Amino acid sequence: MRAEVIEGATLVVDAARLATMVGVELDALAESCRRVLAAGELRGSVLSGAERETQLLRALRASEDPALSCSGPHRAGDWERGWSENLRELHGDDGSLVTLMPKYNRHQVLRLQGDYLRVSDPAFEYAVYTALRHHCFQRWFRGVDGVAEFGCGTGTSLVLLAELLPQLELWGLDWAESSQRILEQIGARTGRTIHGRRFDMFAPDADFLLPPGTAVLTSAAMEQLGAAHGPFVDYLLAQQPAICVHIEPIVELYRPDSLFDDVAIRYHRRRNYLSGFLPRLQRLAAAGRIELLTVQRTGFGSFHHEGYSLVVWRPRGAGSRR
Ligand SMILES: C[S@@+](CC[C@H](N)C(=O)[O-])C[C@H]1O[C@@H](n2cnc3c(N)ncnc32)[C@H](O)[C@@H]1O
Repeated sequence: MRAEVIEGATLVVDAARLATMVGVELDALAESCRRVLAAGELRGSVLSGAERETQLLRALRASEDPALSCSGPHRAGDWERGWSENLRELHGDDGSLVTLMPKYNRHQVLRLQGDYLRVSDPAFEYAVYTALRHHCFQRWFRGVDGVAEFGCGTGTSLVLLAELLPQLELWGLDWAESSQRILEQIGARTGRTIHGRRFDMFAPDADFLLPPGTAVLTSAAMEQLGAAHGPFVDYLLAQQPAICVHIEPIVELYRPDSLFDDVAIRYHRRRNYLSGFLPRLQRLAAAGRIELLTVQRTGFGSFHHEGYSLVVWRPRGAGSRR
């Protein structure tokens, strides 16, 4: 049998591609977002033929792995331990804050708009995520007074926000207390206060009041709630934030009739990731309680699923507590 070698096309995540991923015209991309993309030289090769099949099979098998952990209230200790490790490394680093970077998004085969992309740089995914955040933050947080990030982890988005929009008041909320210790360290090093507070999205503390004019951010955090997002959404509705921006895996945006999407759906469900959140927002919008501003599948993800879909909404009458 003759071995067939199928050369994969090279694909670049440049400003034009990012614009299509986030659903805007090219000239709507912020300058700093373009700079991140240009600095990264973000290119990879598209897998086709047997190589693509191999990855589909790998993804399918991974979703059936009995050792796969499920999200839920029982995972609190795991996050505490994970971020404690980052905190220890932060104490010993050179002050560059690179140790804040989570260790999980370093896959070398990634999902991009219907294709698997092989990349040689393990920082590729994080660089695209950073470019995406530059775009989102400048598009939606320019006019607000502050941002509260729920499930902020090591605070990389808050550090980015502090650089991009220095006038903002910033809050980092997380159920892991090591997250709050990390935010203290960031404050000590940068001189920039980020208010840290323990907060459990499964059991929201109604006494934590968002100051009027504050926006909400979640990024790969509501992901961890599975179908149990009701109390947190109720909390947000009661708080009347200026705007809510979510960078999360949204299972309802996959196409169940596609094999490429089906493997991601299986993985998402096995890990008990976020489900029913978008339908709840759509019902709230239909009832006139919120405005749904953006629902966008960027088509970008790690190997197993697409964690970077965008959902942006605001309560009707937001700002009335101002
Ligand atoms: C995948 S990490 C993402 C961290 C950060 N948003 C980022 O983009 O790097 C998920 C974060 O959500 C937090 N988390 C998970 N469930 C939570 C809950 N019920 N309440 C508050 N935080 C939670 C975890 O502790 C962790 O910091």
